Amino acid sequence: MVAIRSAAPEDLQGIRSVHLAAFPTALEANLVDKLDGSGDVLISLVAEDCGRIVGHVLFSRMDVEADERVVAGMGLAPVAVLPDYQSRGIGTSLIHAALRLAEARGADIVFVLGDPEYYGRFGFDAATAAPFQSPYRGPHFQALVLRPGFKPPRSGRADYAAAFAELG
Ligand SMILES: CC(C)(COP(=O)(O)OP(=O)(O)OC[C@H]1O[C@@H](n2cnc3c(N)ncnc32)[C@H](O)[C@@H]1OP(=O)(O)O)[C@@H](O)C(=O)NCCC(=O)NCCS
Repeated sequence: MVAIRSAAPEDLQGIRSVHLAAFPTALEANLVDKLDGSGDVLISLVAEDCGRIVGHVLFSRMDVEADERVVAGMGLAPVAVLPDYQSRGIGTSLIHAALRLAEARGADIVFVLGDPEYYGRFGFDAATAAPFQSPYRGPHFQALVLRPGFKPPRSGRADYAAAFAELG
């Protein structure tokens, strides 16, 4: 049975293997290592099956302003599930668990860059992210508000941790 739990330092190699298997290049695996090295990881959850890491999701620190006020923003990336374990709901469970944790830890808003069809099912949408300046602005740059009462700003900015810029 697949269980979701917080990642531990000794999981790094297993997490790396998941990203290397799920993505066509090592960019995401390297991103995880860089975020870990820079201390920008806020939430890191793994899916484990019989002692093997089969999925991983990471939320990192973001620098976010809404109408010139600092707000608590997190960035969802990367998320991956081993190919043999995909389409069994593991990605969904990882993302839901991480969103619950982000809400419990006081996040106002979570940003993601990805397929609107996939992330739309969690409530992310491009309209919520649209007022925030970002190099990723566009239909794939989406956000989900977690804090009740958080009003969409007239303008703002949402900057990912430095490791993302190094992705090139
Ligand atoms: C995206 C990913 C994490 C989803 O994990 P998962 O455990 O397969 O997800 P779930 O089982 O919860 O959901 C699977 C559903 O998502 C859909 N889905 C997966 N990737 C999708 C995408 N990029 N766009 C739209 N739908 C997608 C699948 O078609 C499937 O639909 P179905 O349930 O109708 O069959 C996994 O497919 C993966 O690791 N992909 C490669 C890495 C990747 O693209 N990560 C996301 C980067 S934005």
